[in-house]
Amino acid sequence: MKIAIGSDHGGFLLKAEIMKHLRDKDIEFFDFGCYTAESVDYPDIGQAVGEAVAKGEYDRGIVCCGTGIGISISANKIPGIRAALCGDCFSAKASREHNDANVLALGERVIGAGLAKMIVDIWLDTEFQGGRHGRRVEKIAKIEEKYGRR
Ligand code: RB5
Repeated sequence: MKIAIGSDHGGFLLKAEIMKHLRDKDIEFFDFGCYTAESVDYPDIGQAVGEAVAKGEYDRGIVCCGTGIGISISANKIPGIRAALCGDCFSAKASREHNDANVLALGERVIGAGLAKMIVDIWLDTEFQGGRHGRRVEKIAKIEEKYGRR
């Protein structure tokens, strides 16, 4: 599995922890920035990670900002992206099983690195259940078709 990862300055330290965790687990990833703790704009990073996943260059994305909110909203503007902001393990599992989330968003100022790594593990290991959930995810794509600007 190939992961696209990114953060703004607010999620920079949490991203570093997660990248170390991915390295320890031998999971391939590419860092879309930011590369220093200097202030940057989260939409730029959310867009870059979202585009890379939507194009199929990466299997999944992980994005971090202070809250995880701004960067998840930004990634979700890319057609085909289903970014889930998760602060607990139950939501991480459900976001995969029910929503086929292809981007995970985390908030450095909200959760600690220990919980974040646990969420990442569950999220990476959980498969989409399909069935009735597939129908609902297809309906999300229909909304994108109606309002999107491909
Ligand atoms: C940056 O200060 C902060 O606004 C950002 O990291 C994020 O929390 C936005 O949603």
